[in-house]
Amino acid sequence: MIQLEAASYRYDDTPLLSDMSFGIAPGSFHFLTGPSGAGKSTLLKLLYAELLPTSGQVTLFGQPAHGMDRDQVALLRRRVGLVHQDCAFLDHLTISQNICLPLTVSGKSVTDDFAELLAWVGLGHRADAFPPELSGGERQRAALARALIMAPELVLADEPTGNVDWEMSQRIMTLLLELNKMGTTVLIATHDLNLIRTAKSQVSTRVLRIKDGHVQLAEVDL
Ligand SMILES: Nc1ncnc2c1ncn2[C@@H]1O[C@H](COP(=O)(O)OP(=O)(O)O)[C@@H](O)[C@H]1O
Ligand SMILES: [Mg+2]
Repeated sequence: MIQLEAASYRYDDTPLLSDMSFGIAPGSFHFLTGPSGAGKSTLLKLLYAELLPTSGQVTLFGQPAHGMDRDQVALLRRRVGLVHQDCAFLDHLTISQNICLPLTVSGKSVTDDFAELLAWVGLGHRADAFPPELSGGERQRAALARALIMAPELVLADEPTGNVDWEMSQRIMTLLLELNKMGTTVLIATHDLNLIRTAKSQVSTRVLRIKDGHVQLAEVDL
């Protein structure tokens, strides 16, 4: 599904991520970890062609990221659901409208699946609320629903449990685990090792760790 071959990235003169080679197989569940500033968000951007590697190759759904034109990038983005770190919403639109925005802009109509999705993330009763009225946990779950509305094959979640308490982070993890069981490939960037430890007992997961600019397969005990 995704393949990196000796891929590196630098914003300026200092290399941030070097010589990364690994693959993400369909149906797999991955964590990406490393301390704040290690380059997790940057690596995610390489995985949806927001950034291109400064050397080496990134292949997304069988296509080299480098040669993609705008249409190809747009098609790629439909196959990938993104849960951004900041969970930004349009504050003048309701939660429903925000979640359905990817459908609306691509000219698709909202189906019954939407009500099901909203209920699944536990926001059925908040459909008509506006983003500023939501709690941190509700925002995170709304961001997840927005990422899933186009039924993506791959979900990339950047610190999806960033601003919530432990109980809520477990709830969000449960949703991501259920999603993976239904066949969606999932990659979660997090610096929270406790989160990874708990998830590991429930799913067969690979943990990629960024250390000193390199991605390594982390040991089970972390
Ligand atoms: N657009 C950018 N321009 C220059 N440096 C950046 C940019 N975005 C991130 N960085 C730097 O790259 C490093 C890694 O950032 P990031 O990928 O956000 O790490 P993480 O998500 O692991 O916290 C940080 O030192 C950050 O300041
Ligand atoms: Mg980050």
